[in-house]
Amino acid sequence: MKKITIAIDGFSSTGKSTLAKQLAKELGYVYVDTGAMYRAVTLFAMQQGLISNDHFDKQQLISALPQITLQFQFNPELGFAEMYLNGLNVEAEIRTLEVSQQVSRIAEVSEVRAKLVEQQQKMGEDKGIVMDGRDIGTVVFPNAELKIFMTASPETRAQRRYDELTAKGQQVTYDAILQNVMERDRIDTGREDSPLVKANDAYEIDNSNLNREEQFQLVLKLAAEKR
Ligand code: C5P
Repeated sequence: MKKITIAIDGFSSTGKSTLAKQLAKELGYVYVDTGAMYRAVTLFAMQQGLISNDHFDKQQLISALPQITLQFQFNPELGFAEMYLNGLNVEAEIRTLEVSQQVSRIAEVSEVRAKLVEQQQKMGEDKGIVMDGRDIGTVVFPNAELKIFMTASPETRAQRRYDELTAKGQQVTYDAILQNVMERDRIDTGREDSPLVKANDAYEIDNSNLNREEQFQLVLKLAAEKR
């Protein structure tokens, strides 16, 4: 069977990463969460005082980009790769609401995107990869054999994210999360460089209608037809 590239794009908290991880495990493929890379650059910018709610020193961030090293390291206990920023495991820090509130402004910067897309394309050179994000089927791998686009209502997605964060002990409110989900949708779909849009040849999955197992079986079947 030939190895293929699977691109999974869509709105935040639609279950992209759950599906992508499950697929990668089943097929013996590498899984790459590109949102983690944008989140790690955001954490760096926050740590350096380059971004907050009321300011963003974009030029400084662009100048500092060569100082940022991102790596994924597989954690066998968890069964997936964790994000390392300049050699430090930042998996927990990048998943907070504070990072979610700044990340879409960082992801609008073309120089940031160019750096991350180059690294993502290198990771996919040998195929056998499942990558999730916003621009994978449109920009990173426009020739991917299988493209999936995931959607769900903002309320469904906010509830999912709320459940995830509170299960990790984070103090958040459902309203703050819903607002963040809608604000990120607005910025991610409206930006000039690589906006979130369904590729013409992507299969759309609205997960308000399908449960996780149904989605997994559907995509597995689509993948089998392409291999
Ligand atoms: O997937 P996740 O919700 O972790 O992504 C966080 C943010 O990173 C998105 O809201 C988006 O602004 C940005 N992103 C992006 N392109 C990608 C992946 C994520 O712009 N390929």
